[in-house]
Amino acid sequence: KRSPVVLGIESSCDETGAGIVRDGRLLGHAVASSMDEHARYGGVVPEIAARAHVHAAGPVVRAALDQAGLALRDIDAVAVTTGPGLSGALQVGLASAKTLAYSLGVPLYGVHHLAGHVAADTLEHGPLPNPCVVLVVSGGHTSLLLVRDLARDPVVHLGDTLDDAAGECFDKAARILGLPYPGGPAVDRAARAGDPAAVAFPRPLTGPGDDPYAFSFSGLKTAAARWAEAHRAAGRELPVADGAAALQEAVADVLTRKAVAACTDHGVSTLVVVGGVAANSRVRALAEARCDAAGVELRVPPLRLCTDNGAMIAAVGDLLVRAGAAPAPLDVSVDPSAPL
Ligand code: KG4
Ligand code: ZN
Repeated sequence: KRSPVVLGIESSCDETGAGIVRDGRLLGHAVASSMDEHARYGGVVPEIAARAHVHAAGPVVRAALDQAGLALRDIDAVAVTTGPGLSGALQVGLASAKTLAYSLGVPLYGVHHLAGHVAADTLEHGPLPNPCVVLVVSGGHTSLLLVRDLARDPVVHLGDTLDDAAGECFDKAARILGLPYPGGPAVDRAARAGDPAAVAFPRPLTGPGDDPYAFSFSGLKTAAARWAEAHRAAGRELPVADGAAALQEAVADVLTRKAVAACTDHGVSTLVVVGGVAANSRVRALAEARCDAAGVELRVPPLRLCTDNGAMIAAVGDLLVRAGAAPAPLDVSVDPSAPL
């Protein structure tokens, strides 16, 4: 008997994603984004995101199936993000997933969005070693996790951000620097021409008495705002590239320092970096250098699997199906602020 084909659906924020996974392998996936529609508001507008999911849900499922060379009747299980995320956005994906699962007569699995980000790497590099440390860095989350068996064991939170997420920090700093939304890629690009040592931005929560695995990024955003204001008040033009490079350096320094420390402190030899901010060139380079120095293996999924997508949700669904996990009831609800 062939292994089950799992359809994954993701709709927690501004990306509508569908992915098809069988036996840990990605067969097809498609993503539609409403990012451009949010650009002029400087952030994701929940109502616009929800409407865009209604628009895109059908087409992305069809595109993922087409890419896999499969039809609806080939689907053996449906996995869907139930949280955390924007409530209205999550509802659209869940309604679509329930309808498909019920009409196809296949089990439905609710998936935690962060577990999805973690599992994304398995589609590129194979099963995760047990245990591993995972740094999830996106627009909504900044978490250091100790992961054992994703399908069976609860993920242990070593630390989280106390305020803004790392991606949020990039997005807000970009606005201060006059760079376009989304800020992460714009800061990354601008930073190439800048000097990371040009501004001495703080490294929050890295002092001797501080929680070694907790993060805080709102102070960094404030520091960037003060720095920009000082330039403006003095009538000087803002050295945008320098500001971007220095801010990126501060974020990358704190993230990678704490992630590698989590590995060495727990005797873990693999670090996985996932989420939209894993796409950052400086985060990647610094993580590589520090993992090398500490004898830790670094795994970073490719860009298309780093940002929100349905393939990563299908990857968790595939693990759950193969572990014999209990499916979700058809009346399962979204959990916008779901704990992991
Ligand atoms: O994982 P993701 O697509 O969505 C969330 O679950 O939040 O992450 C999006 C975040 C945004 O804040 C975006 O600015 C950031 O990831 N991002 C980056 C880069 N590419 C995307 N941040 C820094 N450097 C990048 N190259
Ligand atoms: Zn995400």
